[in-house]
Amino acid sequence: MDHRLRRRIDDLMAALSSHLEEAASLSRERLGAIPPVAVVLGSGLGILADHMQEARDLAVEDIPHYPPSTVHGHAGRWVAGRLDGTFVLALKGRVHAYEGYSQDQVVFPVRLLAALGVKTLVTTNAVGCIDRRLRPGDLVLLEDQLNLMFRNPLRGPNDDAAGPRFPDMSAAYDRDLMAVALETARQEGLELHTGVMGGLLGPSYETPAEIRMLARCGADVVGMSTIPETIAARHLGLRVAAISCVTNFAAGLSARPLDHSEVTEAAEMARGRFSRLLAAFLARI
Ligand code: HPA
Repeated sequence: MDHRLRRRIDDLMAALSSHLEEAASLSRERLGAIPPVAVVLGSGLGILADHMQEARDLAVEDIPHYPPSTVHGHAGRWVAGRLDGTFVLALKGRVHAYEGYSQDQVVFPVRLLAALGVKTLVTTNAVGCIDRRLRPGDLVLLEDQLNLMFRNPLRGPNDDAAGPRFPDMSAAYDRDLMAVALETARQEGLELHTGVMGGLLGPSYETPAEIRMLARCGADVVGMSTIPETIAARHLGLRVAAISCVTNFAAGLSARPLDHSEVTEAAEMARGRFSRLLAAFLARI
C-alpha cells in the first residue's frame, strides 16, 4: 500500500481511538461504575430514564466528540442507575443517519459503550408494520434485519484490535437473549411477536411500492434506526437484543397518510406495557 495512504489510515484510526478514550474517561468520571448492560430508549420510552433510582446522569453534549444534537434543546442523556432494581445504563435519545450524521458519528455511542466495558446492548425503537399479523401498539422482538440504508458503519479502515474486518452477522440478534425476552413476555402475560426489520435511511416515510418490495424481501416491520448500531455492536462483540414498538401501519396498508404525531402518540400509548416488558427483561439478563 502507498505509504501516504497507510499514514492517513493510521492517523484516522488513532484519532478515533483517542476520541473514544477521552469520551470514556469523562463518562467514567461522571457516571461512576458502568453497568454491563446498556439500553437505548427510543421514541416514547425516554421517560423511563427519569424514574431510575440511585441514578447518575450525563448530558451527551458534555461528552467529548459525541455527535452534536441537531434539535436545539433536545440533546440526549445517559443515566446509570437502577431501573426497577436492575443496574443499567440508559441512553435517552439516539442519533439517526437521516439527521445528516456520518456513519462513524451514528455508531459513536455504541463504540463508546464498548470502550466503557458494556457487554450487552438492548435497543428499542418505533417501527411501521408490514406483516398482516401486526398492528399499531404491538411489540416485536427483532430476529434479524435487512440493511437497506445502503451504507455500513464499518466501511473504512478496520481496527483489528476492536473486531474482525468481516464480522459474522448470521445471528445479529442474540438467540439466548431472544429466548429470555420471549419467556419474560410469557411470564408477564404480554404479547411479544418476533420479526425482521427492514431499515431505510429516511427521513421520508416509504412509498406503498417500497413497502410492497420490503414485504417481498421478508421484512415484517420497517424503521429508520437500529441497523447501524447493531452492526457496530456485533463488530465489537457485544450481544444485542432489540424490541420494536409498532406505531403505525406502513405506507399503503391503511387509508391514512403517515404522520410523525401518530408515531409518537402510539409509542406513548404502548409505553406502559413496553416499560413493564423492558424492566422485567433487563432484570433477567
Ligand atoms: N417507516 C419508517 N420508520 C418508521 C415508521 C415507518 O412507517 N414508523 C415509525 N418509524
